[in-house]
Amino acid sequence: MSFDTVRTVDALRASIAPWHEAGQAVGLVPTMGALHDGHLALVGASRISCVRTVVTIFVNPAQFGPSEDLVRYPRREAEDAEILRSLGVDLLYAPPVSEVYRPGFATRITVGSLADRLEGAHRPDHFTGVATVVAKLLLQARPQRAFFGEKDFQQLQVVRRMAADLDIPVDVVGVETVREPDGLALSSRNEFLSPAERAVAPALNRTLCAVANAVSDGVDCQAEAARGAEALIASGFDKIDYLAVVDAQSFEPIGKIARRPARALAAGFLGKTRLIDNVAIPPAA
Ligand code: PAF
Repeated sequence: MSFDTVRTVDALRASIAPWHEAGQAVGLVPTMGALHDGHLALVGASRISCVRTVVTIFVNPAQFGPSEDLVRYPRREAEDAEILRSLGVDLLYAPPVSEVYRPGFATRITVGSLADRLEGAHRPDHFTGVATVVAKLLLQARPQRAFFGEKDFQQLQVVRRMAADLDIPVDVVGVETVREPDGLALSSRNEFLSPAERAVAPALNRTLCAVANAVSDGVDCQAEAARGAEALIASGFDKIDYLAVVDAQSFEPIGKIARRPARALAAGFLGKTRLIDNVAIPPAA
């Protein structure tokens, strides 16, 4: 089985064209590298439902704010490529920044109110950067399916909205979050946590589950979310950007649960490391 790494749009298109011509379903797994089991679950989902799997590794500067962790974001492409090869991935697209944002690049995709809430409110321009690069990757590779983790649940919904609004013919597939045994969602940023911070980190998922279970009984979501944020600080989190219960599609805040799907989401800091997570509000009892 052959595995290749390409770095230009032309080479990407040339590699994929014969698969399209042969009618083989192509799955795309966009990543920023530093692969962990969460990424491998995306690859696994693509390998099950597509004949060909293309993984992209690109640490996209456009989705990092000026004070964020672009410089320290882990990069280990050689190691990642070996993992992808061993998993039976067909193609790795790992372009340099100069290939993605060529001189004169000026187009940006904004996704409206869905992208302005929660993550968007705390990371201005983040989802514009995500939507723009994902749209480019979808148009370059023209996959039948593209796979995104539910850990970045708002990103998943933003990508779905963008692809639908731009009539990009792709099935955007969400893949369940992969967790450590203590509940911590896998993330490339977990490796920044000190042992003490790592010990506190599972409180994020624990608290979200407690909030999700409490609000499903019809109690006031805002009050429960505020209690959850206080509990996270009491557990040792240094700062909470948000803890909210929202409509899972529009991301509008919910007062009392009257409709589903709904989601509880949170973002908080342990030292300099920002963690996010989310859980579904369970069905009515
Ligand atoms: O989730 C990520 O790793 C990134 O946001 C993505 C989707 C690869 C776009 O850069």
